[in-house]
Amino acid sequence: MSTLIVARLTVSDRAHAGVYEDKGGPELERVFSKEWGFTLAWLPLIVPDEKETITSALNIWIEKRVPLILTTGGTGPASRDITPEATRAVLDKELPGLSEAQRWMSFPIAPTAILSRALAGVAGQSLIINFPGNPKAIAECLPPLMPAIRECLKHLTE
Ligand code: MTE
Repeated sequence: MSTLIVARLTVSDRAHAGVYEDKGGPELERVFSKEWGFTLAWLPLIVPDEKETITSALNIWIEKRVPLILTTGGTGPASRDITPEATRAVLDKELPGLSEAQRWMSFPIAPTAILSRALAGVAGQSLIINFPGNPKAIAECLPPLMPAIRECLKHLTE
């Protein structure tokens, strides 16, 4: 299997400003790498909760045909949370099942999980999946999505 390029975007005003350490981005990398089992090349980036900045980052990766883009943070109801809107602006097709599964898998463990407005979908030949900012959520939600992620990546390269 050839090397898969994966972009990981941490969306957080405070992580971007260095007020606190980015834990979500490295957790995306750790959990996905453990599950994938083949060679990966990571494109990491931290941006503030600004719609234009997020869509610009996503569009650069989409234009470069990065197959998989994982984001963490900015999915909640707070006034600065804008990741789903920025993601929707670049998507060609939504894949709501990937986001609904995240919420329902976490709900019995963390009832606040349903506050996440995370989206997922396809833009060009890229699969984009939002995750909440809490690193615990990534470890809970990402592994069960792996069969669907693998299948979707196959369809996008057809
Ligand atoms: N999912 C899990 N598994 N565990 C959590 O603690 N936190 C929730 C939700 N999803 C949480 C979770 C909360 S409190 C919020 S506000 C939303 O994710 C959005 O978080 P975000 O804005 O950091 O993306």
